[in-house]
Amino acid sequence: MLRAGCQLMKFDKSKALQEKAHGFIPGGSHVYAKGDDQYPTQAPGFIEHGRGCHVWDVDGNEFIEYGMGMRAVGLGHGYRSVAEAAYRQMLMGTNFTRPSPIEIECAERLASLIPSAEMVKFAKNGSDVTTAAVKLARAFTGRDMVAICGDQPFFSVDDWFIGSTRLSAGIPNTIQNLTVKFHYNDLPSLDHLFRQYPGRIACVILEAETTLPPAPGFLNGLQDLVRENGAIFILDEMITGFRWHLGGAQSYYALRPDLSTFGKSMANGFSVSALVGRRDIMERGGLHHDKERVFLLSTTHGAETPSLAAAIETMGIYEREGVIEHLYRQGERLRRGIEHAIISYHLEGYFAVLGKEPNLVYATRDENKKPSQAFRTLFLQETIKQGLLVPSLVVSYSHTDADIDQTVEGIAEALGVYRKGLDEGVEKYLVGRAVKPVFRPFN
Ligand SMILES: Cc1ncc(COP(=O)(O)O)c(C=O)c1O
Repeated sequence: MLRAGCQLMKFDKSKALQEKAHGFIPGGSHVYAKGDDQYPTQAPGFIEHGRGCHVWDVDGNEFIEYGMGMRAVGLGHGYRSVAEAAYRQMLMGTNFTRPSPIEIECAERLASLIPSAEMVKFAKNGSDVTTAAVKLARAFTGRDMVAICGDQPFFSVDDWFIGSTRLSAGIPNTIQNLTVKFHYNDLPSLDHLFRQYPGRIACVILEAETTLPPAPGFLNGLQDLVRENGAIFILDEMITGFRWHLGGAQSYYALRPDLSTFGKSMANGFSVSALVGRRDIMERGGLHHDKERVFLLSTTHGAETPSLAAAIETMGIYEREGVIEHLYRQGERLRRGIEHAIISYHLEGYFAVLGKEPNLVYATRDENKKPSQAFRTLFLQETIKQGLLVPSLVVSYSHTDADIDQTVEGIAEALGVYRKGLDEGVEKYLVGRAVKPVFRPFN
């Protein structure tokens, strides 16, 4: 029983490991979003193992979780048939001196799902493929600038994107100046960029949707505008792929991007990403043309076979078992349950569930209805006490009705404390410091 004794949770082993980790690993983790500054002081610092949507920290505390490895785990932790597919492949060899047929099999499988995927190239991280898309677009158009959706949080670890954030240390101004921003649901802001930099914008990159739904006509209008201006339309499907629709958000919204990028849940947490798109553009990285060649995604581990086996099995499960429908259904149940609790505690305008059912997040606001890190921390702290790990509200195929019901109950308890924090002052209930945004120039 998860919640019995939740008030007694101890994090002693986590705390010892946290101290050690910061001595060896800058930031103490390998994704900033997993960092200690993103969680309350009383939180599980290290996860030892997971099963489905349940995880156990190093102190033996159990949680139902809603982050799912930065959304990479769509089916669930330790999903047996995916692990077995990878293991079978490991025993056959993980990397060879020449390509392996599994590369074609995996590419064909992905191309059969994604309408715009005329060609496919694999890599390990999402950033590898968004950066490759930008490079291809620049080579194909002979232009140097990149237009990104400035309201969306992340596209790559590489300079063309990080240079546009508040954490741009180490990136020359000349690179920073090549990336410009437009607003979501605001076509004139993109049109303005094309006018301001005529003939210079190589590509436009965005996610089809994050927390706000697209305004009617926005996505199709953007696709047209990009084409009219001779630029390449890149759709980042790292999150929307294998969540919005089996064929990605491009199928859900009937778009035809020139290039698109997948990763995250395509291999249930194994490290695979993919750049897909138009043959005439993708072929610039190939051997069958007489144009100037583009160095496109040539990496030692790019086609490491166990991850491709995991991707093939994962895609098969999505196709056979209606995974996407499950994500919508459980996301909807979760949203409804939490919204009921919001109303019972009169928290409308203070706490909100945002986004699409397979990819929900939440907003925390203070007594003046201003975004609040202190209230986010309080919410995290109180949900942890309830045996829940909710950096977001992202469901997986393993979230059962019982998990969702228990989560809604736990979140309702946490929102009761949130209400008291609003009425009596957050500091009365918050233990320790508040969390901080990742993109801040100083600690
Ligand atoms: C929309 C989007 N694009 C690209 C990336 C980069 O992916 P990766 O962390 O695998 O490099 C992320 C990662 O969070 C993302 O959310």
